[in-house]
Amino acid sequence: MIEFRDVRASYDGRIPILKGVDFAIGQGEFVAFAGTNGAGKSTAMRLINGLLKPDSGQVLIDGVPTTQLKTSELAHRVGFLFQNPDRQICCGTVREELLFGFKALGELDAQAEQRVDAIIERFGFDPDADPFLLNRGARQLLALASIVVLETPVVVLDEPTTGLDFRECVKVMEVISQLHRAGTTVVMVCHDMEVVADFAERVIVMSEGRVVDQGSTFEVLRNPRTLEEAHLVPPQIVDISLALPLMDARLAESPVAAADTLNEMQVAVETMAGRAPVGGFVLEEAAERLQGAPGPQELQPPAVPVPSDSKEVLR
Ligand SMILES: Nc1ncnc2c1ncn2[C@@H]1O[C@H](COP(=O)(O)OP(=O)(O)OP(=O)(O)O)[C@@H](O)[C@H]1O
Ligand SMILES: [Mg+2]
Repeated sequence: MIEFRDVRASYDGRIPILKGVDFAIGQGEFVAFAGTNGAGKSTAMRLINGLLKPDSGQVLIDGVPTTQLKTSELAHRVGFLFQNPDRQICCGTVREELLFGFKALGELDAQAEQRVDAIIERFGFDPDADPFLLNRGARQLLALASIVVLETPVVVLDEPTTGLDFRECVKVMEVISQLHRAGTTVVMVCHDMEVVADFAERVIVMSEGRVVDQGSTFEVLRNPRTLEEAHLVPPQIVDISLALPLMDARLAESPVAAADTLNEMQVAVETMAGRAPVGGFVLEEAAERLQGAPGPQELQPPAVPVPSDSKEVLR
């Protein structure tokens, strides 16, 4: 359990960065943080892992204020992936990198080596490769693997997919979603609302050092005020669900023209429903509305009655 109680924080003790932040994240949840650049998301993440302490208010991990937890105690509870993997990676080989967390905790034993070997196998890493010569996606996977291997009950991931191509993004999210399925609490900062919609059960939206909205992914991402305030581009599925009620009027006005749009929406919803439906994103509502809408057959243009004399000609 992670809890922020009226947290105010700064880097220099003067300029306020977090201006009274409250939220709670339960065990095993998958929560995404979204919001504008400079909103304070990374700062909030640093407070969770104890890199930064609040000026006032409390950050509690399992009911204990981070100010009372030793760095090693926090490291056992929270794994942290930095916004930039290059800030994380510091060793000469992939294997050393994966062992680093255990070394830092003074827990480099046979069991740790076994866990590292298992993760090398699982991720298909070359243990002797130089981490800095890997491409961006592979470096990100290595940074993520070095967190996964520690098996902390909470992982905090600051923009784990930023800068990755689609294939690498899928790989990274698959690892994260496996962690969540295994019971790990996942806290993820993410600017890509498609990724958030596909994976997060809940979203906390920040703007200018404050939480401006929080709730289930679908509810938050279809709130026009939230979208505007935090400059969020809603995922396609939300666009569709927002557009659906407008289709009633269009259907009444010109059923044939509306049919194409509805069919496109239907295909989009089906495609999205078929995509790995991880997390708690609600597709049902959009699908339900579409079900009630007329199908393509019902929207065929009415047959134009052929004049009786032309029937003769046609014969
Ligand atoms: N180490 C630091 N020292 C001083 N100020 C900082 C430091 N890191 C961040 N800030 C400031 O704190 C504010 C919030 O930054 P933060 O990195 O938490 O935002 P963010 O929501 O993560 O933004 P982004 O989406 O761009 O990553 C910004 O105004 C930033 O300039
Ligand atoms: Mg950030």
